[in-house]
Amino acid sequence: MVKVEPPVQHLSRLAGEAWGFAVLSCAFRRGLFAKLTRRPATPAEAAAFLRLPEQKAGLALDILVRMGAVRQAAGRYANTKLGRILSPADPAGRYLSLHGRLLSAHLQPSQAGPFGAKALATTEAVCDFLGAMNALGEAPSAKLAKLLRIRKGQRLVDLGGGGGIYTDRLLKQNSDAEVVLVERPAAAKALKKMPPFGSGGVRVVADDYFKPGSPALENSDFVLLANILHGESPLSCVKILRTAHRLLKPGGKVVVVDYFRDGSGKTNAPAALLAYLLYATRNGAVYSGREAEKWLKEAGFSGLRKTQLAGYECLTAVK
Ligand SMILES: C[S@@+](CC[C@H](N)C(=O)[O-])C[C@H]1O[C@@H](n2cnc3c(N)ncnc32)[C@H](O)[C@@H]1O
Repeated sequence: MVKVEPPVQHLSRLAGEAWGFAVLSCAFRRGLFAKLTRRPATPAEAAAFLRLPEQKAGLALDILVRMGAVRQAAGRYANTKLGRILSPADPAGRYLSLHGRLLSAHLQPSQAGPFGAKALATTEAVCDFLGAMNALGEAPSAKLAKLLRIRKGQRLVDLGGGGGIYTDRLLKQNSDAEVVLVERPAAAKALKKMPPFGSGGVRVVADDYFKPGSPALENSDFVLLANILHGESPLSCVKILRTAHRLLKPGGKVVVVDYFRDGSGKTNAPAALLAYLLYATRNGAVYSGREAEKWLKEAGFSGLRKTQLAGYECLTAVK
């Protein structure tokens, strides 16, 4: 039976979550997690880092402790694992911080996605964003490149390929393959200004993954969707998977790399954090693997396989 929460409790829970988010975002912008990565801090030092009077800082720190971002031991505050990934020293933190830009982008969502936000209005800022996504993709892309064999003459299309870490690694490992990266025009333009990857040779196509018009994408052997579904609504996820299905030749494979709410009961801190941030956006969410499986079937795929990829999940299915 579905348990219905009384409206007052529901509202107070939502208010609590919103307040928690405000505190987390304040601590994040003021560099608390970066500072605690260097060394644990006394309450007075932590208050100075937060630029709050000591009593208010105490309340904020209590909330961060309850959220599991900070822990208290021997009268000092230190980062937990979650706090560490909020520090720019960690690739996930770099992605999330980007000098506060990404968070602002998530807090001011626009029709055009992150690149429509004021915070990412310049090519330099977009390069920074793409570069940080590349840092996050180092480990999973290296692992995917070892798993995925793309034969001579076969083509892989990377929809929403970002800074190109996945296409670059895949091409290095499969140098006879054709690899095409599809991005929004702003990102495709910024990619030209970024230092070229080792292998070069990746073709960049400025197109929309909801309705790609480029004939160069049709009849492909693989379509990669890395970290795409978590930024879209369930309806859009199905639409994108249908696009992938249309772009593939019969027998072709879709490859989905993403964070999913972990069915195994193990904590996935980056997924939890991402879910928290996506809570503030209009569309995104960290979905469950089961939802993704259902959408894959709805889009016409079968033969689902799952692999772990350095903290991410990789789902492959066949047209
Ligand atoms: C979270 S990033 C993932 C980038 C890359 N796949 C990775 O894993 O590093 C999502 C990417 O999708 C791109 N994107 C969003 N909407 C798009 C659309 N309608 N068409 C093409 N690309 C889009 C964004 O520009 C962004 O670079």
